[in-house]
Amino acid sequence: MLNPYHLQAQATFYLKTMGCQMNEHDSEVITGILMSLGYVSTDSVDEADLILYNTCSVRENPERKVYGQIARFRALKAKKPNLIIGICGCMTQQKEELTAILRKLPHVDLIFGTHNIHRLPELLERATSGDRVVEVWDEGQEIIEELPVRRSNTLKAFVNIIYGCTNFCTYCIVPYTRGKERSRRPELIYDEICQLAQAGYKEITLLGQNVNAYGRDLGLENDFAQLLHELNKVPDLSRIRFTTSHPKDMKDNLITAIASLDKVCEHLHLPVQAGSNHVLKAMNRGYSREYYLDLVARIKKAVPTISLTTDLIVGFPGESDEDFQETLSLVEEVGFSSSFTFLYSPRKGTPAAKMTAQVPEDIKKERIYRLIALQNDLSAKHMQTLLGQRLEVLVDGVAEQSGDLTGRTRTNKQVLFSGSSDLVGQTVNVIIKMAQTWILRGELV
Ligand code: SAH
Ligand code: SF4
Ligand code: F3S
Repeated sequence: MLNPYHLQAQATFYLKTMGCQMNEHDSEVITGILMSLGYVSTDSVDEADLILYNTCSVRENPERKVYGQIARFRALKAKKPNLIIGICGCMTQQKEELTAILRKLPHVDLIFGTHNIHRLPELLERATSGDRVVEVWDEGQEIIEELPVRRSNTLKAFVNIIYGCTNFCTYCIVPYTRGKERSRRPELIYDEICQLAQAGYKEITLLGQNVNAYGRDLGLENDFAQLLHELNKVPDLSRIRFTTSHPKDMKDNLITAIASLDKVCEHLHLPVQAGSNHVLKAMNRGYSREYYLDLVARIKKAVPTISLTTDLIVGFPGESDEDFQETLSLVEEVGFSSSFTFLYSPRKGTPAAKMTAQVPEDIKKERIYRLIALQNDLSAKHMQTLLGQRLEVLVDGVAEQSGDLTGRTRTNKQVLFSGSSDLVGQTVNVIIKMAQTWILRGELV
């Protein structure tokens, strides 16, 4: 491939990705750009000419790890002066964090943000010629289309439909690191997915911090449900998934779309965060416990096979034992098939970090253990209900050790079964014979 930057042959990069699917997809774009510049990927930091960390700020722990890990590359850099060390992603978008990176990690050469990934070729060229390059934009301009993408999977693809978030949940850093809501044009989304389907992709996951807000900023008639109706027509595509849905923006026409469109899978990730009205209000979530439970009841009625998953924050400021009990009872009442549980982590610059009634760490931990125990129980029970059922499975690979085929049900449960590797990429029917907490085993029909 033509290399406009005259890199030496086979310059290598090591890219580490933290955080959510937005970041995973951004890393696919970064990889695409680097490969178009002639770089090849490596898993070894010792071999790399470029080490790049795509960071996440949503909780404190991963941020701390970034400082620790990058500090260790100082020795590497001393041995290899031409090594470029870069940081991008959500950490760079916060002024204080950026200042801390510059101060604590003087050996970092290249820093860019979430809004200017497309500028990587020029920034990298400046960094390789010896400059320390820092370029972070405050807000996304218009959406940059047509960037090269190197996808990490050949069957399943992520497709962004909306960038940013304007909800300002009081605990959350994302609106500050990703800017305001910006939807992609529906025709561009449609075209991208048609191309993916033609290239052999079978499943797409539509991405956004709140896909249910899709179209609002475009001033178009199109809302998310209408987009799904359009995308359901893409030839040769088997499955459509999406994440994340904000409960407050979940409209009836979306429930109908999930129920009626054959490609749209019966899995809904619907983060509730907490079960008590007082905590939900302090979080600025924009719905009550009663609203959420009613929404779930309507969804279950319209789509009886739906698998519901959620995110939960434990130990939000002011959360009392009674509030936490309400989270437990909500989780039990809904019967989520799985959930992501997080200890509340104060984020600088968010309103919740300044709230006075912070919950002590040991109480947070004690609560999360109880929540996880309950969820494990519910997950196991949910899997048991699938025993004996005949389920549609998209075969996605061959298990390394056993040689069994692996695949996912429409509700996103992993299934193992024996069969020929020719089936990879196809949709088959499997009868479930054994149910463990996280994995099903079955027999090909
Ligand atoms: N846009 C998505 C979630 C993005 S962040 C949504 O609204 O559902 C993913 C999850 O991280 C959130 O759902 C929340 O549960 C968790 N999270 C966000 N900020 C957090 C914080 N400060 N402390 C702990 N968990 C947090
Ligand atoms: Fe964060 Fe709330 Fe936006 Fe989700 S909806 S990204 S939790 S502010
Ligand atoms: Fe993290 Fe940024 Fe995603 S803060 S969760 S990587 S949007």
